[in-house]
Amino acid sequence: MSSVVFVAKETSPDEPRVAASAETVKKMIGLGLEVVVEAGAGLLSRIPDADYEKAGAKIGKATDAKTADVILKVRRPLDKEIKSIKQGAIVIAIMDPYGNEEALATLAKAGATTFAMELMPRITRAQSMDVLSSQANLAGYQAVIDAAGEYDRAMPMMMTAAGTVPAAKVFVMGAGVAGLQAIATARRLGAVVSATDVRPAAKEQVASLGAKFIAVEDDEFKAAETAGGYAKQMSAEYQAKQAALVAEHIAKQDIVITTALIPGRPAPKLVSRAMLASMRSGSIAVDLAVERGGNVEGVEAGKVVYVEGVKVIGYSNVAGRVAASASLLYAKNLLTFLETMISKETKQLALNTEDELVKATMLTHGGAVVHPNFGGVKNEGAA
Ligand code: NAI
Repeated sequence: MSSVVFVAKETSPDEPRVAASAETVKKMIGLGLEVVVEAGAGLLSRIPDADYEKAGAKIGKATDAKTADVILKVRRPLDKEIKSIKQGAIVIAIMDPYGNEEALATLAKAGATTFAMELMPRITRAQSMDVLSSQANLAGYQAVIDAAGEYDRAMPMMMTAAGTVPAAKVFVMGAGVAGLQAIATARRLGAVVSATDVRPAAKEQVASLGAKFIAVEDDEFKAAETAGGYAKQMSAEYQAKQAALVAEHIAKQDIVITTALIPGRPAPKLVSRAMLASMRSGSIAVDLAVERGGNVEGVEAGKVVYVEGVKVIGYSNVAGRVAASASLLYAKNLLTFLETMISKETKQLALNTEDELVKATMLTHGGAVVHPNFGGVKNEGAA
C-alpha cells in the first residue's frame, strides 16, 4: 500500500503560499506516493485544483489529513489542524519553533513527527531544500519592488530634454540572501546602491554586485561569522561604532532596505528614529526583519507607516507577496527533502533518524520534543 501525502490549504488568512505544485505532485506520484490536495489549496498561488488533478492528485477536504502519512504545509499546524493528524504522521513545514515551545509540546502529544524546514543545515547536499534561501531571495526582490512602488520619484537616472532625474540612492542593511537579491534588483532598476553587513564575507559579494560596502572593519568584524555562515551578536562597542558610521551614511539615502537577522535572536535594531529624521522627508525604509521585531524603530508589522517623515514599510510574509513564485520554490524544497525519506527499493517511507538532515530539523517524534534547542535530549548531534 502506498503512503499518502496530504497537501493542506493554509488556514492563516495572511498565507497565500502552498506546499506543493503540480510539478512536485507529479514527482511524488512518480516516487510511489498517493497525493491528496485539499480543495483550493493552491488558489492564492494561482494553482487551480484541476492542475493538481491533472498531475495525478486527488482533491480532498481538511479532514482527509487524518488518512495521511505525510502532511505538507507552509506554516505550523494550529490546534484545530493538529486534531486531524494521524498518530506517527510526518508533518513538514516552516515551523517557527523559537518561542513556540507550547505548540511544539502539543504536536508532540498528538504523536506527530514534525520537521522544521528552516533548521535545514547549510551544507551542499541540502542546498535544494533551503527554504530560508528560496524565500529570502524572493523577499529581497519584492522589498525593492515595494520600495519603488511607494517612492514618489523614479529610481534610475533619466536625462531628458526637460531636465535630469537623479538616480535613487538605496542602502541595503544585511547582505545575506535577501540583501544580495535586493542589491541586484535595485541595481537593475538603476539605483546607486550601497550595503552593509557584519560578516566580512559579505564585503566581496556586495562589491561583485556593483554596490559600495559600508562597515567598520575592525578586528571584531574580521571574526564575525559563525561556522554555519551566520552573523554573530556584535558587542555593544562595535554596534555603537557601526551606528555612527551608518547614521552619517543614511542621511544621504532615499531608500533603506533592512534584512538583518541573527538566528534564534530578535532582529538587531539598526535604524533609529534619529536616523530616520535625518533622511529627506518622503524617503522610504523597508524592514524585512519586522516579523522578528524589526531593524527599524517604529516599524509596524503588516503596515506602511510614517515615522519621522519616512515611509516605513513593514509588510509581513514578503515572499508571500510573490506567492506564485514563492510556492513553486518552496514546493521543490519540500519535495527534495521528502525524497530523502523514501526508500528507493520499497517506495515506502523509511525515516532514518541518524541522517544529519533529519537530526537537524526534527522537532517532535514518538510523543516527545526531540530537538535539543527546544528542550529535547534524544536527538543528540543536531545543530
Ligand atoms: P540571515 O537572514 O540570517 O541574516 C541576513 C543578513 O543580516 C546576514 O548577512 C547577516 O550577516 C546580517 N546581519 C546580522 N546582524 C547584522 C547587523 N547588526 N548589521 C548588519 N548586518 C547584519 O542570513 P542569510 O541570508 O540566511 O545568509 C547568511 C549566510 O549564509 C550568507 O553568507 C549566505 O550567503 C549563506 N548561505 C549559505 C548557503 C549554503 O551554503 N548552502 C545557503 C544560503 C545562504
